[in-house]
Amino acid sequence: MSVDSPFPELKKRHTMARAGRPWRDFKPPPSGPVWGIVQGFGSYWTLVAAIDLGIFDSVERLNKCTVAQLAEVLAVSEPHLRHVCDALVTFGFLDQIDDLYEISETAERYLCTNGAASMASLIRVAPGPHRNWEQLADTVRTGRVATPIEDDPEAFYGPLVDATFVTQHRAATRLGWRSGWQRRRELRVLDLGAGRAPWAIAVLEQSEGSTAVVNDLTRVLADARDTIEGRGLTDRVEFRPGDFHQIEIEENAFDLVVLGHVCRTEGDAGARALVERAWRALRPGGQILLADYFADNDRKYNPFGVQMGLTMMANTRAGGVLTNDQVAGWLRDTGFVALRLIEPIGFQFVYVADRPPSS
Ligand SMILES: C[S@@+](CC[C@H](N)C(=O)[O-])C[C@H]1O[C@@H](n2cnc3c(N)ncnc32)[C@H](O)[C@@H]1O
Repeated sequence: MSVDSPFPELKKRHTMARAGRPWRDFKPPPSGPVWGIVQGFGSYWTLVAAIDLGIFDSVERLNKCTVAQLAEVLAVSEPHLRHVCDALVTFGFLDQIDDLYEISETAERYLCTNGAASMASLIRVAPGPHRNWEQLADTVRTGRVATPIEDDPEAFYGPLVDATFVTQHRAATRLGWRSGWQRRRELRVLDLGAGRAPWAIAVLEQSEGSTAVVNDLTRVLADARDTIEGRGLTDRVEFRPGDFHQIEIEENAFDLVVLGHVCRTEGDAGARALVERAWRALRPGGQILLADYFADNDRKYNPFGVQMGLTMMANTRAGGVLTNDQVAGWLRDTGFVALRLIEPIGFQFVYVADRPPSS
């Protein structure tokens, strides 16, 4: 028996040393990780409530405020609001000094409606239909998702692409700066599953005389049309509604083909088919841009990528985790060369690869 064991008497009878695993008994692991998961459920809903109530926007406007002042502005119950505000302090979204609360830099940037990289409207939609999570065990038992996004994709993707436009447009704009789109004129772009078309718009904004074919499902494409019109780019865009596996696409015609966050819901065969469509659409020497959330090849060092894959499994018929090996495999098997994996802004990755000029 170890002399520095905290409970030597207990160890005498219960020690796992008898079961051959003494190191486990010497210092049992804390339950913190389990509580962290349990409280994660409440944390998510606290954030949803904070956004629904307008807490971040109001605290930012008031600069510094007490809970009483904030409760008056929001017309809510002060003691209930105090609990929420204190939780938001523990998340790092509010700062608290004595009785005064103020917005943290993280919340100012990501959670205020007008934040430079606002994710405020993404919080509710990002996990997918919420009831799919309650039924995850059934999904795993049966291999079937209760409410897959594909049942009514336009209803799901309309709010999603609204919420992700700011971030994807920033990523695309930074990628363009790094890739020198400003020096390349009259680029012809194909954006498949474009959403509100952040990628095509970034090209059109940077490359003089460039034009785009923008594809999405009919109802989502109507939103893209609004965004493109709002930026005065309509005369440089052809809108092509329909399923990106089915629509007519000219061959050897485009300088850039964008697959922006469309592969992870498609499954291996569907995504591979899209990469092959992109190849045929590109002129020799053209480039594919494949943006998504990728996991490491062992599916354990990048929790964000692994959990994004889980979210796809929980909410779509064929989607799941995408590893770097898998995506690089599609690109190389199709014939793309000069693969680069670029992170134009934090957490956003894009594969850029070339169709060889001689192909
Ligand atoms: C995650 S969003 C990405 C939007 C945009 N490309 C971006 O990077 O922000 C996926 C988009 O693909 C579209 N989409 C999904 N299935 C599609 C299909 N079969 N044909 C055309 N578009 C589809 C959705 O409507 C949605 O706009």
